[in-house]
Amino acid sequence: MSVATLEMKPIAYGRDCKTYLLYDADTKEAAIIDPRFDHVSRYMTELEKLDLKLKYAFDTHTHADHLSGSDRLRNLTACAIVMSDKTKSKVADYLATDGEKFKLGGHELTVLHTPGHTPDSQCIFDGARVYTGDTLFIGGAARTDFMGGSPEQLFESFRKIEALGKDVEVWPGHDYNGHEHSSIAAELENNDHFKADRETLIGMHKLKGELPANMSEILSFNSEAGLPEARIVKPSDVAAYGTPGKDFTLLDSRYADEFEAGRIEGAVLIPLPELRDRWSEVEKLPHPIVSVCRSGVRATMAMMTARHADDNDWLLLEGGMQAWMNAGQPMVSDTGKAPDVITSKFATGGSCAAGGGSCSVVG
Ligand SMILES: [Fe+2]
Repeated sequence: MSVATLEMKPIAYGRDCKTYLLYDADTKEAAIIDPRFDHVSRYMTELEKLDLKLKYAFDTHTHADHLSGSDRLRNLTACAIVMSDKTKSKVADYLATDGEKFKLGGHELTVLHTPGHTPDSQCIFDGARVYTGDTLFIGGAARTDFMGGSPEQLFESFRKIEALGKDVEVWPGHDYNGHEHSSIAAELENNDHFKADRETLIGMHKLKGELPANMSEILSFNSEAGLPEARIVKPSDVAAYGTPGKDFTLLDSRYADEFEAGRIEGAVLIPLPELRDRWSEVEKLPHPIVSVCRSGVRATMAMMTARHADDNDWLLLEGGMQAWMNAGQPMVSDTGKAPDVITSKFATGGSCAAGGGSCSVVG
């Protein structure tokens, strides 16, 4: 009989946001930690390729800086979403208590309640590796200045992580410096936050940072449930809605330079940061509205703005203009050059969100 092996695959398509796929090689049961909404189709391909059955999607906390993919994965795979029992999110199927164990084939995943970044922060321990979400980063720590964060609690949570043992590997939810993983011993040695005494840590976390961009839309998506599959359309589905501007609206929420460089003919431009102020224009547009951006993230946030305005007759173009272009669908431009999907000169970097603000205090 083969010995069941717990396999782990880090999946990071962006440069800093980290998702982990864990699976039992014998039983093919899998768990995913902190999936992102805009990468769900890639996770599905990965699950299929490895012939895995997704049992759990763990969110290490209610994310404020990116859209969680857990709800969509549940729609597609019937996995259970596991969050901390301290969460206010309505999305979770199962609320985990501190120390609770979850079976994955012949293995156990233990949830550690680690408040500090948010009251609902949890780490997942697989016996050799701890997935620290936004609680502990390599050489850094969670920010504690918003969403009910607390440096006092973070200190206690660090001690809980430290108690796992020095050889345990640390796999964080973000890394902005190109690191993959570390160990508790290395963090005790090198991480000023992790090795700080209580008062020093509290002192280090006095500064208030900028809030993540589009935080209310992201929290709405992550804690009230995302989008049903029926609201998500593919490039090849769009033609069935008729003529844009007459039978429906293609609403492009990118910046003007992206729109000018390459768009779907007939699309209307309202950049996401202007959407709320220009809501009276949206009300007059023919519905349904097909929401479009570069990759699908801003377009989803636009749908959350619409949801708050009680306008639910919106559809998401999955994968945005990138998917549209890859599908060979026609585009127009105002630049005199061949239409293209570009990154805006107005886009700000530094986080998982489309436009700045992150969950970390690094250094
Ligand atoms: Fe976070």
